[in-house]
Amino acid sequence: MSAMTTQLDGIQCIDELEIENRRVFIRVDFNVPFDKKTGEITDADRIQRAIPTIAHALERGARVILGSHRGRPKGTAVDSLSLEPCAAKLSELGGWEVFLPDDCLSDAAVKVIGELRAGQLCLLENLRFHPGEESNDEGFARDLSDLFDVYVNDAFGAAHRAHASVSALPKLIPERGMGFLLRDELKSLARLLEQPQKPFVAVLGGAKVSDKIGVIERLIVKSDALCIGGAMANTFAAATGREMAESLLQADGLPLARTLIEKARDAGTKLLLPSDFVVADSADANSGTVAVGGLTSGSMALDIGPKTVESFSAEIAAAKTVFWNGPMGLFENPAFAAGSTGIAHALAETEAFSVVGGGDSAAAVRAAGDNLASQLDFISTGGGAALELIEGKQLPGVEALRTTPRPIDPAEQLPE
Ligand code: 3PG
Repeated sequence: MSAMTTQLDGIQCIDELEIENRRVFIRVDFNVPFDKKTGEITDADRIQRAIPTIAHALERGARVILGSHRGRPKGTAVDSLSLEPCAAKLSELGGWEVFLPDDCLSDAAVKVIGELRAGQLCLLENLRFHPGEESNDEGFARDLSDLFDVYVNDAFGAAHRAHASVSALPKLIPERGMGFLLRDELKSLARLLEQPQKPFVAVLGGAKVSDKIGVIERLIVKSDALCIGGAMANTFAAATGREMAESLLQADGLPLARTLIEKARDAGTKLLLPSDFVVADSADANSGTVAVGGLTSGSMALDIGPKTVESFSAEIAAAKTVFWNGPMGLFENPAFAAGSTGIAHALAETEAFSVVGGGDSAAAVRAAGDNLASQLDFISTGGGAALELIEGKQLPGVEALRTTPRPIDPAEQLPE
């Protein structure tokens, strides 16, 4: 069974669907970050990367209806979470006129959809303005399904949510499939897990060990080396008896970190922890570098140090497959960005097949500049979704697209 068949088995791609002159609903993930002060979109990557699927549908003469969520409005209309800025951005990037009716099921929406001509598109207002979206309500899904002939999911970032537009809705529309972005996401992530070229090196950051237990356990089995940075590394360092002073760490995660260290040892997986840290008295204070164990009272680790960057980079350089998720430090502050920037450079320079797992690590790659993003093989648009897939979970938004069941691939099973 090839690396690409199992995840995609039984799912049609938009270029295999009959879409001409039909009402084609495309679920996109336009949940993009905004600047709280200016209200401007700070990173339009998710919108940009939905464009090939939308353009294909329009060129093939579909009547395109886009749907997305934004933020967590909890079932009521919240003006500040309108998709209006996303419609404007899509119009700017794609060069299309984008109609935005005020509510996904209002009379206005029904009228706009009814009047769409082949090659025209509209974007429905935030689907989470309806309580039925997050509760995966069958009735809400059914009301939506009346408006469409074909369903396409291109929202990898939301594929791990069992929400109505992602899970219940596609099951009600026999003509369904995935967009190009979702296809590429699944192909790239499958390549990491199904038959990765060895050595396979994973770099994980982020704050809490407990948030990533499933991913760490799976990577201990699947990878040859696991490099841990970010605040999570503070917990591992403390678990090995190092003084971490005021550093952010998960005190109740120490036993778990010890167990994971033992599991890595038993599996023969190299577990690399930081040998030095960039420290400061606070996130705004002057910083310095200390070796692990050298933190003094009042100081906190806010990034991995240069020696650690060097050792993680050496692993990455020797790898044939690399996966990175989670920043190495408080990269939003330039004083603590060198760790994440260093890893981004190592990924750009390696010959290995390199994948970045969305969220903050994708932002860190873009913040590192030098056009590094274009030198990586794949940057996922879904942080949480990518991690759940790596963990071996089935994503509701992917499973709902299958028209035939997916066979179980023994390569994906973890030993008991
Ligand atoms: C994301 O940004 O991770 C996705 O859009 C999913 O959003 P959610 O975590 O609010 O479900």
